[in-house]
Amino acid sequence: MTALDNNVPAHVDPDDVSINPSNNPSMADVIAERVALSRRGLLMGTAATAALTFVGAPLLARDAAAQAAAPAAAAAASSLKRPVQLGFRPVAKSLADTLSVAEGYSASPLFRLGDPMAANIPAYKNDGTDAAATYAMRAGDHHDAIQYYGIDANGRYAAAGSTRGLLVQNHEAITPMFLHPNGVTTTGTGADQKRTVADEVMKEYYVHGVSIVEVEKAANGGWSYKQDSRFNRRVHTLTPMALSGPAATPAYTGTKFSPQGTQTRGTVNNCASGYTPWNTYLTCEENSMGYFRRVAATDDPKRTDKEKRSLARYGVAGTGRELWATVAPDTADNLYGRWNAEATGATAAADFRNAPNTYLWNVEIDPFNPDAMPKKRTAMGRFAHEGAVLAPVVPGRPLVWYQGDDSRGEYIYKYVSTANWDPADATRGLAAGDKYLDNGKLYVAKFNADGTGEWIELRFGSDKINANTPGYAFADQGDVLVNTRLAADAVGATKMDRPEWGAVDPVNGQVYMTLTNNNAALRPLTAVDAANPRHYNDKRVNGTNQFGNANGHIIRWQEAGDNHASTTMRWDIYLFGARAGTDPQNVNLSGLAAENDFSSPDGLWFSNATGVCWIQTDDGAYTDVTNCMLLAALPGTVGDGGAQARRTITSTNADGQTREVATYVGAPAGDKVRRFLVGPAMCEITGITETPDGKTLFVNIQHPGEDTPVANIADASKFGSHWPDGGMARPRSATIVITKNDGGVVGV
Ligand code: FEO
Ligand code: CA
Ligand code: CA
Repeated sequence: MTALDNNVPAHVDPDDVSINPSNNPSMADVIAERVALSRRGLLMGTAATAALTFVGAPLLARDAAAQAAAPAAAAAASSLKRPVQLGFRPVAKSLADTLSVAEGYSASPLFRLGDPMAANIPAYKNDGTDAAATYAMRAGDHHDAIQYYGIDANGRYAAAGSTRGLLVQNHEAITPMFLHPNGVTTTGTGADQKRTVADEVMKEYYVHGVSIVEVEKAANGGWSYKQDSRFNRRVHTLTPMALSGPAATPAYTGTKFSPQGTQTRGTVNNCASGYTPWNTYLTCEENSMGYFRRVAATDDPKRTDKEKRSLARYGVAGTGRELWATVAPDTADNLYGRWNAEATGATAAADFRNAPNTYLWNVEIDPFNPDAMPKKRTAMGRFAHEGAVLAPVVPGRPLVWYQGDDSRGEYIYKYVSTANWDPADATRGLAAGDKYLDNGKLYVAKFNADGTGEWIELRFGSDKINANTPGYAFADQGDVLVNTRLAADAVGATKMDRPEWGAVDPVNGQVYMTLTNNNAALRPLTAVDAANPRHYNDKRVNGTNQFGNANGHIIRWQEAGDNHASTTMRWDIYLFGARAGTDPQNVNLSGLAAENDFSSPDGLWFSNATGVCWIQTDDGAYTDVTNCMLLAALPGTVGDGGAQARRTITSTNADGQTREVATYVGAPAGDKVRRFLVGPAMCEITGITETPDGKTLFVNIQHPGEDTPVANIADASKFGSHWPDGGMARPRSATIVITKNDGGVVGV
């Protein structure tokens, strides 16, 4: 079944597929390696206590030395005070095709799929007939991560600018049926299914990628985007990009388009994002591999064993989710054939076999310099990037970004720059990126059963990553970066329940990451572990069983010595998603109630104005009861579960077998977690940013109506959503603006 088959929902979630075959720690391994650490000592919580405890543990001793050497590396102390209570009443769960927002607040669409971004582009008809070429300057589809940059009257970055700014955001994917007059036009079936209308494909090329649009607040407090701003820009799948860092070599990224491997075309499946201290944007390529066509039966015989191992680990196999490679004839510059990743030519310089290696990176874009070519930063690793979360910035210390690899059973990473931060670089744009993002150390996380964790460097020439690595002989650091997942397998990283967004608490520097969910096949009873401890039956109201970790959780950690470059940490689980009323001992461990129960946390972000933590859901489990939502939370600290923090929970599988595992649970949610907004039907809530004054939130509503059967395109009354335009309109992804009706700061 492909996403383009008729009579089935257009939506196939690529995250649902796991391709991690490694044998990294199961529960048995984790129990076996427990070390005699005093968890109580760690939970007492000061950096000094933690350091003393680390000294006794051989695994972690090296980090105590690192701490001693760099005591001044503590997270930037913040004067920000988090409120003791949230300032709104929770909203109810909802299945309505509308936005429900907390009383006293307003939420309205600002920037919708197809909205024109230049003076000469006509208004969007939204019936599939808008001309393909006009999409080069229209809002893209599937709005995802978003970042606000204030600007002053001269168009320069203004850190405190809260009435005029640039919104830079990702357009992750598409709902193809709503882009064309009668859905997608194809011929053939199965592996022979082909696209026949090149204009439809061109339109799809344009609506992926990134948009930059200027927005302004009027005197009456309302926001609008500026259709003719000189800053407005689209970066999409046709935009030339530079490749930089250790992996950008002919051997790994060389293609017919750029035999030296220094350039590629476009970015695709841009999920979460990040930013830099020099005010550029990092867009993160997530499920890009799914767009490539590579029929293993014809291509495998032409490939080396190493290539086949790499292609399998990254899931480069299939007909391509939008069938872009099937348009015939191809153009002279291979606009369609570039998505064919098979070895069709004599050498890599004659085809696009290496094209998949030019994707799955973090891509740096300078919103203030429309002429600057975006750059893919290979030193930060290659995997299904969810986001890149910048740790607190300290002059004279390295810069650190946390990153999740969003697929079931994948890992959590962090990148630490070699160069120490010099505030003089804050105005250097992509040149600063060359300094900090092309040279650094990439680490992967291992979460131990005793509540500690380690960051293991992925370095060619280390004990486990070298030319003798069993199953994959690494050649150099470029190989390690192109095949980050294989390197992480080799060092025994911890397989997680789909790492999505991360966020750093501006109050205390602790790091949070959503683990959106996992299923019974990929988190079986035999593989529950301390950091991914649940396997249970989350029954839908119609009685359908959903075994595994259907509702997800949020892990958090404190780096040793509060030093983000540290190689050890301690962790606990901040929140477990669950239905209210379920088993409090083994499922609803955070004590969620009607006001705050949720499933599948995905977006995660802290307001720098208030310290409020915002949680967004991308759910398919609890959708029998509610649409996806946005919650606000006031977290405590790692270890705030107190005496109850270390809990043994019992998992039960479909065969009735049980298994116990000890984990570390944060304080109950109580009224410090409240539901703030529920979205329209079949949407995902994702992407959130604010004006520096905290008075405006920009939030993205992605793919309302997504699960509409393709066959329903002819009958508008059968669309799964008509949001935001209402009536019988086709649904549109959109950025919404949220403000408090009294003009105050949001959430408090
Ligand atoms: Fe694009 Fe992992 O959500
Ligand atoms: Ca996401
Ligand atoms: Ca997601």
